[in-house]
Amino acid sequence: MTTPKRLGILTSGGDCAGLNSAIRAVVHRAVGTYGWSVIGIKDGTLGLMNRPLETVEFTLSDLTGSLLRLGGTVLGTTNKGDPFAFPMPDGSRKDRSADFAEGYRQLGLDALIVIGGDGSLKILRRLCQQGKIPMVGIPKTIDNDVHLTEYSIGFSTGLDVAVEALDRLQPTAASHHRVMILEVMGRDAGHIALQAGIAGGVDVILIPELRYGMEAVATKLRGVMKEGRSHGLVVVAEGVKTDMGEKVQVNWSGGESRYGGIGHWLGEQIAKTVGCETRVTVLGHVQRGGTPSMRDRVLASSFGVHAVDLVAKGRFDRMVAWHDRSVVDVALEDVVGVYRCVDAGGALVRTARGLGIYVGEID
Ligand code: F6P
Repeated sequence: MTTPKRLGILTSGGDCAGLNSAIRAVVHRAVGTYGWSVIGIKDGTLGLMNRPLETVEFTLSDLTGSLLRLGGTVLGTTNKGDPFAFPMPDGSRKDRSADFAEGYRQLGLDALIVIGGDGSLKILRRLCQQGKIPMVGIPKTIDNDVHLTEYSIGFSTGLDVAVEALDRLQPTAASHHRVMILEVMGRDAGHIALQAGIAGGVDVILIPELRYGMEAVATKLRGVMKEGRSHGLVVVAEGVKTDMGEKVQVNWSGGESRYGGIGHWLGEQIAKTVGCETRVTVLGHVQRGGTPSMRDRVLASSFGVHAVDLVAKGRFDRMVAWHDRSVVDVALEDVVGVYRCVDAGGALVRTARGLGIYVGEID
């Protein structure tokens, strides 16, 4: 038996499928097994920075059966408002990190479980170190770019959505003799594009990790057509630059630039160089929403249980991780600041090439 604890939990950064499955697992283990209390903090770091504090206490009666399969996060989240440089109404930035730690103390918590991606885990670790808050991290992101874990929550579902999109695009591409381009998310990592491209049977995969040439893309697609197939499929990661190395981004009013646009740029280029009809689908946030896949539910459940066990053992500044078919934990120090890209010389790139897919140049 451990002394009863009050555990805080928050979700931070972009949402994804499986966050609620992880929250559910934490509540099951902490309340159900250990008899602790679990306080949910709303909207990421904001719940501890706002006054009054924005929290909700979870009880076993919240485990109704639907939480496991529910998309999004019941706690809300934010991928804006870094507490170290918080945007103020007058346009200035203010260090509000002390508000976060004070909010934590007001709640009388013993530890914090943070479900976040690489950016959130880095900021939260710094906040927790500064505020002397014992923290355990759980990795989530459809981008699957968190270092030292083979899988992050949300990746499997996002990938399934991308593969389903390709399954739907192929018949319409074939009917109209078109080349369909699918732009997928992933920031500067090509994990979704690469794996969706293999599973979806595409002809060309472009990822930020591998240099490519427009002429080589065109040659591949012309070759496909010469062999008698009058349509093609291309998947491109949103972080891919033009063949001249220029970033393609969407500039929103307010001065914010976001990923997006490479699919349309590529569609134009392919139409011009191959001389075929092209259409572009930008998959966007559908990859983040919806019911978590079986894999994400298993991953999130394993992560949630293991994270609570780490708190019980007093092992902090750790992140739960998936490694070699099992849940393990690693030092957060070793995780933050390292970006997990696609291994350009790895098995999956070799697989794609082995299938005849053009996946960029070999250096
Ligand atoms: O990091 C997850 C992610 O979905 C990226 O793949 C994408 O570039 C970004 O978040 C989109 O962020 P937002 O929800 O702010 O548009």
